[in-house]
Amino acid sequence: MNIIKVKNYEAMSKKALELVIHQLNMKKDSTLGLATGSTPVGLYQQLIVAHKNRYISFKDVKTFNLDEYIGLDRNHPESYFSFMNRHLFEHIDISEDNIHLPNNDINRLEEDVKAYNDLLSKNTIDLQILGIGTNGHIGFNEPGTPFEQETFIVDLDMKTREDNARFFDSIDSVPKQAITMGIKNIMKANHILLLASGANKAEAIKKMVDGPVDITHPASVLQLHPNCTVIVDEAAASQL
Ligand code: GLP
Repeated sequence: MNIIKVKNYEAMSKKALELVIHQLNMKKDSTLGLATGSTPVGLYQQLIVAHKNRYISFKDVKTFNLDEYIGLDRNHPESYFSFMNRHLFEHIDISEDNIHLPNNDINRLEEDVKAYNDLLSKNTIDLQILGIGTNGHIGFNEPGTPFEQETFIVDLDMKTREDNARFFDSIDSVPKQAITMGIKNIMKANHILLLASGANKAEAIKKMVDGPVDITHPASVLQLHPNCTVIVDEAAASQL
């Protein structure tokens, strides 16, 4: 793991921007794995600015998102489909055909899981952006998820639902399930870039970096990845 410590959220987003630009300069038709949550929003804002200033184009870029809630219509404002449109896709020159998120049609979930996993097996992600849950989850791979797990339907931990309740009217409105890439899918990426900011992530980062590689802390699997970069701000790095 290559750990880069920076001052704060803004510096984390800027450093991440440099790495994404480097990737796109090396390969303009890169395949990016994208994450949701508050952590990558600053990076997405910077990518939009870089695009508007004509430093980068997404014309030939393909994207695969990590996960999607089950039980929310795709057009619900808090679906990850809406989140990605709002925070990135509608501001850049990416082709709609190159954007991929798991479908979450309640009537055909098993087919949706299989279809997404098949797509992931046919595509290699060049650069996978990740956040981390306070319980150590990556994507929505909650503690206890086997490292061999591929795309699946996950029951969300109470802790995860509490953490994400800030986006909803109440905890009861937070979905109880999601479709997520599995740890095996994530680990296939050529380069993983995990971002973390804030004191509430310090313990999860400590266990990820220095703890045993164990399914009780899913992000610890990244110790086994040959090319993983972690950008942490001072608060998130405070226990390292
Ligand atoms: C969410 C997402 C993760 C994300 C994590 C942290 O539930 N499924 O991909 O990394 O939780 O979110 P945040 O960046 O808002 O702290």
